[in-house]
Amino acid sequence: MSHESARKMWNSDAPNWVDHQHLGSIAPVIESFICRHSAQVLQVTPRNSRIVDLGTGANTKAYFPASAHPRIIGLDFSSEMLRLNPLPQKTVAEMSAPLPFARESFGLVTSFLAWRYLSSEEHAALIQEMYRVLLPYGTVLLIDLLKNNWEHQKSEFSPDWNAQHLRTAGFSVRTASTENVRSPLGYTLRYTAELGVVVARKA
Ligand SMILES: C[S@@+](CC[C@H](N)C(=O)[O-])C[C@H]1O[C@@H](n2cnc3c(N)ncnc32)[C@H](O)[C@@H]1O
Repeated sequence: MSHESARKMWNSDAPNWVDHQHLGSIAPVIESFICRHSAQVLQVTPRNSRIVDLGTGANTKAYFPASAHPRIIGLDFSSEMLRLNPLPQKTVAEMSAPLPFARESFGLVTSFLAWRYLSSEEHAALIQEMYRVLLPYGTVLLIDLLKNNWEHQKSEFSPDWNAQHLRTAGFSVRTASTENVRSPLGYTLRYTAELGVVVARKA
């Protein structure tokens, strides 16, 4: 699928991401998993530094404490996702192209449930871009489902593969792990998920 048709699909799918409806009953479990990890990395992120969330979708606020919202720039190639996203700062841009920011602009780069929509080659280039836009000692937090098999997915999320490429780019990797989460509503269609987490620091 071309980027253009994927972008159109995300535009029409945007309303389902305002409240994470597409994730079904497991949505609050995934949200709290991501919140827990973002709270941890925020503790080691300079208080006034900016944050960029890549493939931000429509519901970025669910993942960060309210005090962090004014510091976040949500980046997405879907203008409809960003129209529905109440974050104050948003940018329509491609994750697979050079990021539209100056070097050393951010204390934290995050990406949640969006990494699988790029190919391995695009990941390698984006990792270099993340290194460029991060401040010294800035942090990267990547979280995604390991497997989901949406038609527009281009790769599977491998914490080990990403850790290896982050090291090659000059990052020091703090976490590269997987965790199974489960909805308390066991009777629903989608009630388990395997999530991968990568945390790395610019050396
Ligand atoms: C599954 S949604 C996740 C959205 C959000 N991170 C969340 O967790 O709710 C994937 C997001 O990645 C965005 N995306 C996919 N490919 C992209 C690309 N090449 N450049 C920028 N954004 C992209 C989509 O528009 C969509 O908003």
